Amino acid sequence: MAIIGSVPRRCVNLPPGSFKTLIRSILGGNRQEAIIEKFYKEFAHWLGASHSLGTSSGRSAFQLALQALGMKKGAEIIFPMFTFPVIPLVAKLLGYQPVFCDVNPHTYNSDPEHIEPKITENTGAILATHLFGQPCAIRGIADMARQRNIRLLEDCAHACGVRVDGRQVGTFGDIGVFSFAEGKNMPCFGGGAIATSDDNIAQRARQILSKAPVPSRDAITKAAVSVWFKWLLTRPFIFGLTVYPALRLKLLLGQPLMDSIGGDELLETFNNSNPHISPMNHLQAAVGLLQLNHIDAFNEGARRNARILTEELGEVPGIGVPETVEGDHIFVYYPLRVDPEKRDDLRHYLLKHGFDSKTSDMYDCTALRLLRASEERQNSLNARMEASILEICVYPVIPQAEMRRLARNIRAWSGLPAR
Ligand SMILES: Cc1ncc(COP(=O)(O)O)c(C=O)c1O
Repeated sequence: MAIIGSVPRRCVNLPPGSFKTLIRSILGGNRQEAIIEKFYKEFAHWLGASHSLGTSSGRSAFQLALQALGMKKGAEIIFPMFTFPVIPLVAKLLGYQPVFCDVNPHTYNSDPEHIEPKITENTGAILATHLFGQPCAIRGIADMARQRNIRLLEDCAHACGVRVDGRQVGTFGDIGVFSFAEGKNMPCFGGGAIATSDDNIAQRARQILSKAPVPSRDAITKAAVSVWFKWLLTRPFIFGLTVYPALRLKLLLGQPLMDSIGGDELLETFNNSNPHISPMNHLQAAVGLLQLNHIDAFNEGARRNARILTEELGEVPGIGVPETVEGDHIFVYYPLRVDPEKRDDLRHYLLKHGFDSKTSDMYDCTALRLLRASEERQNSLNARMEASILEICVYPVIPQAEMRRLARNIRAWSGLPAR
């Protein structure tokens, strides 16, 4: 059993200095507001936006974005049909009407020609999502939104630090929405943010945030320690001695492989959780400031590792690698496309060879109960896209030799000789 050489499905990428920051926060640091304001300023500056404001999560940031836009209730918002389904549910719970458009099955993003047919006189906004870290055709979408006088938001939860023609995603539309959750490329003990260059939107968002309940010190510490614990468990050595043997045992016993809840179950839980806006805390802001010194290098490392998979697996029968078309894909997750009937077989094979992988948290929203009510399912072509995706780890702490071993294993699984 490849205990020591095993590779976890996710890397909690906390920057150096996070532990010290956590301890200082537990012991009661001061100047908390100043740290948060400093993060807002530096994050906005790094993005090239005029303002940023922080929240406790990406979904809370999206809620803040919608409330700050203040569109009339009942307005339609166009979402890609394949995305993280909590996001359209946030819109629905706020009284808006989610409308789903197709995505390109090779890039997983929506192009202007997918969005255009869904525009009606009731369309208030478009959410352009940069899924898995690949920028969508944002320049064309921004032109279309401007011509039609429709608000444009960008979901950059997977794409923090991605540039298109040198310009950061999240700055093309009215508001960019970011997530700093532990599985993303810029984790900050949780958190999220919006970025905008519209002074009125920023002012309204600030007013909304100033009235939002602030989490207690205990809640902040508890959440941060849980992320810290996940960080610890995803260190390859500790993973190899703890989670990896547990996963192998589960595989042997035919039990689920520690997958988080998703789809309808996740939406039900979120729906029952009284979702509300919650501001970013000082600890998240302090780690965010550290992250800004590392995020570009982290993204470059993930890109390098993904390139190895794309080169090695491009021609493998039965395996689809993601197509990159626009800007610089950072591959926060590398989605391999496999026949749904064979996907678990590949996952189990890789686990036996030391590589943990993940089913996707992205879903065909038109098939989910709580969202389907908003619009009859129209798209059978892309049905259950999530069933054919296996997310492969490419984060930069995995050495290139390990990435090549991973590719060799996938080739061997498909029956091809190693290169
Ligand atoms: C595409 C996308 N948008 C938004 C979010 C929400 O981020 P958070 O989990 O921080 O609320 C996620 C979370 O996975 C996501 O995948």
